[in-house]
Amino acid sequence: MHNIKRLQLKNYRLYDTLDTEFSAGINLITGQNAQGKTSLIEAIYVLALSKSHKTPLDHVLIREDQPFAKITGEANLDTKRATLEIILSKQGKKAKFNHVEYKRLSDYIGSMKVVMFAPEDLNLVKGSPAERRRFLDLEMGQVNRMYLHHLGQYRKVLKERNEHLKALQKKKSDDHVLLDVLTEQLIHYGTKIVRARRSFIEALQPIISRVYKTLSGENNLSLTYDPSIEADPYKAYQAKKSLDILTGTTNLGPHRDDCGLYFGSQDLKKVASQGQVRTVALTLKLAVIALLEETKNIAPIILLDDVFSELDKTRKENILKNLPKEAQIFITATSLEHINLNILDNYKLFHIKNGKIEGVETHGSTSKL
Ligand SMILES: Nc1ncnc2c1ncn2[C@@H]1O[C@H](COP(=O)(O)OP(=O)(O)OP(=O)(O)O)[C@@H](O)[C@H]1O
Ligand SMILES: [Mg+2]
Repeated sequence: MHNIKRLQLKNYRLYDTLDTEFSAGINLITGQNAQGKTSLIEAIYVLALSKSHKTPLDHVLIREDQPFAKITGEANLDTKRATLEIILSKQGKKAKFNHVEYKRLSDYIGSMKVVMFAPEDLNLVKGSPAERRRFLDLEMGQVNRMYLHHLGQYRKVLKERNEHLKALQKKKSDDHVLLDVLTEQLIHYGTKIVRARRSFIEALQPIISRVYKTLSGENNLSLTYDPSIEADPYKAYQAKKSLDILTGTTNLGPHRDDCGLYFGSQDLKKVASQGQVRTVALTLKLAVIALLEETKNIAPIILLDDVFSELDKTRKENILKNLPKEAQIFITATSLEHINLNILDNYKLFHIKNGKIEGVETHGSTSKL
């Protein structure tokens, strides 16, 4: 099990300084709008993955008019204790593990496992295919370094191939042998990506229907993999070759894959209600967590930002009842008034106001606190 025991922030978003200790079980973060709830759990996410789930721009994470931001966490990573640190400044970012700087962020990422559910994830259901690919890449990349490596190689070759296609399009080159070589390399890495995605999705499928049923009482949620190339990739690229040159871009491959989400035969993109969208997006995340636990014995830190909005009382309480028992969980909410917290054996409640923790209450047995 991974958990974060102590978190210190310096100049992170609206936080000037913060130093706090969390429960190894459930942490409820409450406060009014714009007081720093999301920023707090975002900081934990950044500490684990070195970038925000909300923005690719690191500098917006630094408190206004300050030269740097620092996030420090003391964590339990299964049997090991570790200090993790991320420092952001104009010069770039540094990641330190037990006070030693990692030169390559990809070696640092994933040492502390987190899974975040955030309002942005609602786009998983109704948004573009890119949203769903990002989900696959992120969740698979945390546990499969080879996948990240292959993805990186694939993107490199794709960029080269696209540049070459543009050169062919503009008749700046007529090197078709180079195009074949790049296509061959693209197929090499692409095949590995597709194979990994297929087995990940196949493993996820039964868990998704199970989790969705416990949250909603509804049956029939299914996830499909819709790869851009179904059969022989050599033939497929050959068939699209003139189109690729005409458009100056690669029209086929894992960078065009998608996933489908269905209730029976109904496409969720078209029919899901707001509450269903939220429940389905959350289901995807909780299913990933269950899969990590079942196959790799990994229990990541679970970050749930504003998970209860729009949900009826039953669904809210189903979420609380079905949270993984062994995991450390953070839940933000503007109000917990209509939720029966007695369902929970123990929890720690933080009240946040204007970038400060105004009050902390602990409930239940202290073994988890
Ligand atoms: N780099 C920054 N420097 C200073 N303040 C910032 C910075 N980035 C964000 N903020 C401020 O932090 C506040 C937002 O915090 P956050 O998103 O954590 O709120 P929240 O409690 O989650 O609110 P909500 O309930 O609306 O989701 C905003 O008012 C925003 O202007
Ligand atoms: Mg928020």
